[in-house]
Amino acid sequence: MNKMWACKSVDLLCSEADGSKTGLKRSLGVWNLIALGIGCIIGAGIFVLSGHAAANNAGPAVVLSFVAGALVCVFAGLCYAELASSVPVAGSAYTYAYASLGQFIAWIIGWDLILEYALGATTVAIGWSGYVVSFLKNLGIYIPVQFTQGPWVFNAGTGEWSSTGNLINLPAVLIVLITSWLLAIGTRESARVNAAIVLVKLAVVLLFIALGWSAVDHQNWVTAANPAGSFVPPEDSFGNFGWGGVLTGAGVVFFAYIGFDAVSCAAQEASNPQRDMPRGIIGSLLICSVLYALVAYVLTGLVPYDKLGVPDPIAIAIDTLGVSWLAPVVKLGAIAGLTTVVLVLLLAQTRIFYSMSRDGLLPAIFSNVHSRFRTPFKTTLITGLLVAALAGLMPMGLVGELVSIGTLFAFVLVCLGVLVLRKTRPDMHRPFRSPVIWFVAPAGALSAFGLMLGLPLDTWIRLAVWMLIGVAIYFLYAWRRSTPM
Ligand code: ALA
Repeated sequence: MNKMWACKSVDLLCSEADGSKTGLKRSLGVWNLIALGIGCIIGAGIFVLSGHAAANNAGPAVVLSFVAGALVCVFAGLCYAELASSVPVAGSAYTYAYASLGQFIAWIIGWDLILEYALGATTVAIGWSGYVVSFLKNLGIYIPVQFTQGPWVFNAGTGEWSSTGNLINLPAVLIVLITSWLLAIGTRESARVNAAIVLVKLAVVLLFIALGWSAVDHQNWVTAANPAGSFVPPEDSFGNFGWGGVLTGAGVVFFAYIGFDAVSCAAQEASNPQRDMPRGIIGSLLICSVLYALVAYVLTGLVPYDKLGVPDPIAIAIDTLGVSWLAPVVKLGAIAGLTTVVLVLLLAQTRIFYSMSRDGLLPAIFSNVHSRFRTPFKTTLITGLLVAALAGLMPMGLVGELVSIGTLFAFVLVCLGVLVLRKTRPDMHRPFRSPVIWFVAPAGALSAFGLMLGLPLDTWIRLAVWMLIGVAIYFLYAWRRSTPM
């Protein structure tokens, strides 16, 4: 049964690859796609989590955590690139799974990707709000705390919710609504705004590396727990320093790479998807990997790593340089950077809903394309309202790990999917073929699964509950209504 679906869906999807039937506008070139990738990749991961991973898990060896995270993503990225060039339609891993593993697995992955994209946008919007509130505070503008935090927090230790006495995270709501509106009125417009902001973000990151490089002092590797100043500090307990800490750190900073796969969601709007999809995915991933490793090296070379577990580690490092104009510039860059992450994650989410609806798995309203803007206008607004509500009310910690586990699960399925397609459709036209696929795909699946194993049990339980809800909806609703193949 799966095989039948696989063949038919590939044929169907590829026949639609010219975009003529979809109504979406093909307006994105390779640089737009790389910018989309960078727009989604560089965000809260490097601006916030790099410091946490250095302080709690890896010390200066957080550089290696970034390299390990990059490796997992490069394996998965090669698989994404092969599938994105062969099945160049909107929908990312969902579409690939439909083509290679059948409708049920596709539904599972589409449902799972809500964790990556919608919850990812929620997480980053909450982070955006934190930076904006702190930046405004520097300017002497205070927003009452009732309007900068949601009403509840979740205590992972006790597993209990408690009230904060606050009302809503208004800046987080606003950024989601603004970016959703931008997406609703046009992909090309959004891509332009994205490209401009990506330049600002890249400039800020490069400035940090350039100004910090010559001030790096390996004496900063010396701490009370690491008197010898080793690059890999001695192990405390598994996951806290030592080589285990490097691995756990890789799981933490993995969030920083999430987003390269979002490029594939815009396949239906790419001018030349077969050629440009792989370039967009791998190009943005490689650029960010190099920048991350350099930022991590400079960061831990400027400040002893045990002082980096703060919400704004990069700003702390800048303070040591004594360049007073740099701190506000970098904060602004971070705010701009997080904005594009929200934008691209929302773009990806709406395109997945769009594709699932076209397959009949979601109500028809999700694939309705606006006659003038030629965007999935209604889906974008519905998604924007849902994510805005979550961002206004949810605590950040709870959603972050769910995003990571959901994304890693998607990577596992995509890596397996590319192998299945090589077996079941050996003659399919593949403008981009991943090298040594029989090594790359299993290595991608195993390494992603390895990072999943490093995440806490309660995150696994939440993933399982979310998936069970998804399976129930599939059998009660989606399966009955799906478009016959
Ligand atoms: N990679 C994105 C970030 O770090 C999700 O914010």
